[in-house]
Amino acid sequence: MRQSLLLALALASFVAGSFATSSVVMPPIRAEGEEVGLIFVPGAEIKGEAYRKTARAIQEASTMRLWVALTGNFTLGVPNPLEMKGAVEGAIKALHSAGMKSTNYMGVAHSLGGVFLSSYAINSPLKAVVLLGSYLTRPTKLRDYPKPVLTLSGELDGQTRITRVAVDYEQLVEDAKNNISSLYRTPVINIKGSCHAQFASGPMPSEVRKYDLKPAITDYEAHAFIGQYVSTFVSVTFGSVGSMVEEAKRQLVYYFKDSGKRFLPLLGVKSLDKKGSVSPWAQICQAKVAGKYLARTAINNRILQLLPFLESKPSIEKLGSGIIINTTARIDYESNPMDVSTHKESPVEIDVKMKSRDAIKKALNVTLPQFLQAIEILGLDKENNITCKDLNQIAFHLALKNSTTEAQERYTKYGRPITFKDDIVYGTGFQWSTKSMGLEESDHGLLVQGVALVTSIKSLMFPGMHYCKVLSPYRAMEWINVDSLRTHKP
Ligand SMILES: *[C@@H]1O[C@H](CO)[C@@H](O)[C@H](O)[C@H]1NC(C)=O
Ligand SMILES: *[C@@H]1O[C@H](CO)[C@@H](O)[C@H](O)[C@H]1NC(C)=O
Ligand SMILES: *[C@@H]1O[C@H](CO)[C@@H](O)[C@H](O)[C@H]1NC(C)=O
Ligand SMILES: *[C@@H]1O[C@H](CO)[C@@H](O)[C@H](O)[C@H]1NC(C)=O
Ligand SMILES: *[C@@H]1O[C@H](CO)[C@@H](O)[C@H](O)[C@H]1NC(C)=O
Ligand SMILES: *[C@@H]1O[C@H](CO)[C@@H](O)[C@H](O)[C@H]1NC(C)=O
Repeated sequence: MRQSLLLALALASFVAGSFATSSVVMPPIRAEGEEVGLIFVPGAEIKGEAYRKTARAIQEASTMRLWVALTGNFTLGVPNPLEMKGAVEGAIKALHSAGMKSTNYMGVAHSLGGVFLSSYAINSPLKAVVLLGSYLTRPTKLRDYPKPVLTLSGELDGQTRITRVAVDYEQLVEDAKNNISSLYRTPVINIKGSCHAQFASGPMPSEVRKYDLKPAITDYEAHAFIGQYVSTFVSVTFGSVGSMVEEAKRQLVYYFKDSGKRFLPLLGVKSLDKKGSVSPWAQICQAKVAGKYLARTAINNRILQLLPFLESKPSIEKLGSGIIINTTARIDYESNPMDVSTHKESPVEIDVKMKSRDAIKKALNVTLPQFLQAIEILGLDKENNITCKDLNQIAFHLALKNSTTEAQERYTKYGRPITFKDDIVYGTGFQWSTKSMGLEESDHGLLVQGVALVTSIKSLMFPGMHYCKVLSPYRAMEWINVDSLRTHKP
């Protein structure tokens, strides 16, 4: 889609004969102080002037002498790589005509504007970049980006989901372990309660209205937060007064910790999908299937690609008085080669090949007293036959419990509910492998339906297997925290 857009733009500007970008200058509100020029680039189909209040909030929060240029009038109203250079250079010219003396420029770009500005900025007069509801597109990593970059995310941004920016926060946590300076050079900050539209003001294009979430704070509050965060980053990046820079660094450490309150619960549940080549969630599923026989059971897991997964079989080995179960898993992600922000970050499903409880019981050579055997045979022991639906419900409850209190309240109050249907049950591995887990979103909510295969231990072919296609707890969490909060399916 982006390619055809670029083609249309190239054509439009060719026909028009020239690029038409322009900018509006907002002079500093302080008479004194070091000068920095903030050059804004709008999101798709948003006017440059829509960032006036945001820019003003940054000027007010800063003790420095901040100039602002709001670029706009991109062809078809969409910022794009072909016009970025002209827009930024035009803004610089306008700033100097208006009286700016310094050459400290910082690009501030919203949404799609950020996608194109961050690649343009690398070889440009811009000395730093701020991404509003935007991020460095994969595979670029924060630590490899050659200039300081602040990534600002809204907790309730429905366009640039918090789960996407959480990935950058996770990188930052790693980077900061090696060098605390990354917190000042490439901060990633989450604004509590704000949405995508609140990086700007005024009417939003239909694409934003379709995806965005209801904010929990006012536009005025959102702009004040943006003012604080961006002005602190400006001080750290351009400030030359030592005490001011030290204070700004302390602030950035505080913002990093505060943002963790919202990013870390997500990242904790995300880590259940995959840890190196192992799926902890698959191990937990097998543990639930083992139930009361878990005590003498060790569970291995290996994540495999589609074909090796299809061929794989789970196995049980005796070890001393216990057993080792080898399970396999496949994690299916939505394909997103362009790293588009509206795509979900969590897996579509996790496929797990486990051993059945009967197979575990047999391997452990457990003989139950007769009355317990009777309970099992009568099916009164609920735990005895755990379904994929049970596993999905466990995933959901974990995701809900590990969401922030505010997120739990929002979901309970107006989130579209998640409903679990009984498993689709197949008798052969082939049938099981061809059917995807049910994951159906509508205006009423999300329907989830696991796909199961359980073979008897007396079966001639592949006895004692328990296969499940299940919901990733992180997908449940992404639903609770982002997608469920829209009134309609986009
Ligand atoms: C866009 O163009 C219009 C018409 O020329 C002009 O009034 C407006 O200031 C421009 N906006 C920006 C942000 O440059
Ligand atoms: C940490 O990063 C800063 C800024 O990128 C750099 O100047 C400094 O040398 C780094 N320190 C170490 C110990 O690598
Ligand atoms: C869920 O939250 C609890 C309590 O905060 C925490 O101890 C646990 O590690 C979290 N689980 C995951 C998978 O993040
Ligand atoms: C189970 O997995 C372990 C570790 O990967 C491996 O050493 C062992 O051979 C496997 N056992 C079977 C029966 O496949
Ligand atoms: C299983 O346990 C019974 C006694 O509970 C014992 O007689 C039998 O030898 C055991 N079988 C194996 C294969 O360990
Ligand atoms: C156990 O669960 C499977 C589906 O997961 C179902 O087909 C089977 O009938 C259940 N068995 C009992 C005894 O409930």
